[in-house]
Amino acid sequence: MEQIQTKRIVLGITGGIAAYKSAELTRLLVNQGIQIQVAMTEAACHFITPTTMQALSGKQVFINQWGEHTANHMAHINLSRATDAIIIAPATADFIAKLVHGLADDLLSTLCLARNCPMLVAPAMNRQMWENPATQRNIQQLVADGVTILGPANGTQACGEEGMGRMLEPSELARAVLTFFQPKLLSGVKVLLTAGPTYEAIDAVRGITNRSSGKMGYAIAQAALELGAEVTLISGPTALPCPHGAALMNITSAAEMFELVQKHVTDTDIFISVAAVADYRVAQPSEQKIKKSTGGLTLELLPNPDILGYVSGLPKPPFCVGFAAESHNLYEYAATKRKTKKIPLLAANLVQQAIGADDNELVLFDDAGEHVLPRANKLKLARALLQHIVKLYRRGN
Ligand code: PMT
Repeated sequence: MEQIQTKRIVLGITGGIAAYKSAELTRLLVNQGIQIQVAMTEAACHFITPTTMQALSGKQVFINQWGEHTANHMAHINLSRATDAIIIAPATADFIAKLVHGLADDLLSTLCLARNCPMLVAPAMNRQMWENPATQRNIQQLVADGVTILGPANGTQACGEEGMGRMLEPSELARAVLTFFQPKLLSGVKVLLTAGPTYEAIDAVRGITNRSSGKMGYAIAQAALELGAEVTLISGPTALPCPHGAALMNITSAAEMFELVQKHVTDTDIFISVAAVADYRVAQPSEQKIKKSTGGLTLELLPNPDILGYVSGLPKPPFCVGFAAESHNLYEYAATKRKTKKIPLLAANLVQQAIGADDNELVLFDDAGEHVLPRANKLKLARALLQHIVKLYRRGN
């Protein structure tokens, strides 16, 4: 484990009822030997007193950028330079929006903007506020900006409503912080990923595609980045922002995906094939829109190249991870697929539960047998999958 005792964290508390949980979070982190410097917004002081946070952190709490604590009146610079990470817990919808837009109208938002260290954000708000498209857009933007989002959780809320938006429990947040400081297990390792659907044109406006959203593949890219990997992401059409730090290459058809994979695979240590590649393409797509006629329409389909099969069949293949999307007989089909594709690791999922969804469940097949990664949001699942990949990859290298 990384020497956690040397770490210093700024804990930013914003104005939500979950602020009371930050007291316990501080206690847990201080118990681990982490130095906590608390910075609160004015609104946060309505929910928990600076005196409480000062007693638990053992340090004077910062609230105001014009405060008396710093002789040079540069608290935003001093604090953000003297820290290994900033964690905002709880982060209100308003504060998240400020982070997204780079607003800096109080000490906490200013030091976040001035930071040169990683930031973790633990959202806490009413479920409608969380589900609001504006908040969801903001969260996606923070992820794209390289911010780590912790939670929120589902459950009963202070307002009495049920749903997503509860801040994670202090013990979960403390664990996430400790994990965050773990060594970068894939530092210097090149990961090539395919994600999303492919689109095979029928004519100028129509095509054959599938419902893959890219969420699973993009989450795996994000998890690999967190472990320090160099990530190249070859993606079919999705509505997702590129994970911060990944080299994103957009393609439309399986043929284009194949071409880019061939180009990049020679310089790859780990290949993860998450894309839902169309097995067939139209033999002769029409450049013009096909006019409707009273009779039927017959399309001739040709098989697409098996991209994963090609990579695993290379004389010196990278460590290959395949996916299997099955609608039934998951265990039987997936185990067979791993053998036909000749790959060390295959992650199987039930397509009706996985495709387009935010959550997923994976069954991993490798030489040692089967391992279930229980249902969780795709990023959490991706992190668990990456831990498994690292273990097998290290063993073979
Ligand atoms: O994108 P999401 O909405 O988050 O959904 C995620 C997912 C369900 C798409 C993902 O988890 C998943 O299962 N991806 C693989 C889907 C798939 O095409 O499975 P398959 O059983 O048809 O293919 C087996 C493997 O071969 C896959 O690794 C696939 O990427 C690869 N393949 C398939 C066909 C082909 N021509 N070339 C390939 O490389």
